[in-house]
Amino acid sequence: MPVKPVEWRDRRLYIIDQTLLPRECLEIALSTVDAVWEAIKRLRVRGAPAIGICAAYGVVTGILEHNPSTVAETLEAVRAAADRLATSRPTAVNLFWALDRMRRVAEAAAPGATDAEALIDRLEAEAMAIHAEDEAMCLAIGRHGAGLIGENAGVLTHCNAGGLATSGYGTALAPMFVAQEQGRKFRVFADETRPLLQGARLTAWELVKAGIDTTLICDNMAAQVMRERRIDLVIVGADRITANGDTANKIGTYGVAVLAAEHKIPFYVAAPSSTFDLTLETGNQIPIEERDPEEITHGFGLQTAADGVKVYNPAFDVTPARLIAGIITEKGIITPPNRENIARALGE
Ligand code: MRU
Repeated sequence: MPVKPVEWRDRRLYIIDQTLLPRECLEIALSTVDAVWEAIKRLRVRGAPAIGICAAYGVVTGILEHNPSTVAETLEAVRAAADRLATSRPTAVNLFWALDRMRRVAEAAAPGATDAEALIDRLEAEAMAIHAEDEAMCLAIGRHGAGLIGENAGVLTHCNAGGLATSGYGTALAPMFVAQEQGRKFRVFADETRPLLQGARLTAWELVKAGIDTTLICDNMAAQVMRERRIDLVIVGADRITANGDTANKIGTYGVAVLAAEHKIPFYVAAPSSTFDLTLETGNQIPIEERDPEEITHGFGLQTAADGVKVYNPAFDVTPARLIAGIITEKGIITPPNRENIARALGE
């Protein structure tokens, strides 16, 4: 069974605090918009789809926090929660996609709502629908992508795009989970993913727990591992994909794509349609989050850099579409991922 990083029970939002993994798998409750904002910002919940799902429930949490007595007050709470949560992280488009969807539903349902409770019910149902749809999309991604993983294949992945980053099988890891269910034997190489080690802490945790043959490597070992012909394909997740197929994902992904091209290894991206941002033409327009220098100089509380050194810490990079063999979506594999094929696949 995949892990459940986000849960909604008795009108309360729970997440697994991913900053504690792999040492401890602890569920925490988030009862205010500020707590949801902090959890997203600090990566207690992370991964593009999971951020979107959490934000959708965060909007309902924001309403309940204010205990509105009228439809107008409810609408006001929706707007306030959505505005606040939109400032948590800039790159993953799923956050804005989910918040916009909640806002639109609220604006459309408000005029016909008999009272505040009716509107809250409608928004709670919408957040639950976002959650359920993501689970279905992950499974479909897994089924479309599993055929890419042949018997005895070596697969490399970067960061964590597994169950912890979604509400189901994950995106990049979904084809691996399905290939395993289909009885194939293969080996996964997980980049540790500096500076926050999502690969070492989260991907390795998920894959080992699932019984998949997993080997952890430091990010700077990928070239050597490819040169030794241990890798047959790369599958990574995405935080935002623009109309032309350029893809933002965890910092280091672009480097892996360049290495894969040099070694003639197919490089795949796996993502649901909620990760596409067709309002942007190319990857140059994607906002790239910059994070606290301390993540590099004092990773996990230990000083590993000289006092006074300058630090640059972009959390994501953009892989140009020409380096991507295909994008595995819930609707099928888009290959090659160009403007025409993406528009056709997404039915825009
Ligand atoms: O900073 P993070 O851990 O949220 O970054 C996560 C990634 O880059 C994932 O690969 C991406 O969000 C896809 S998750 C299915």
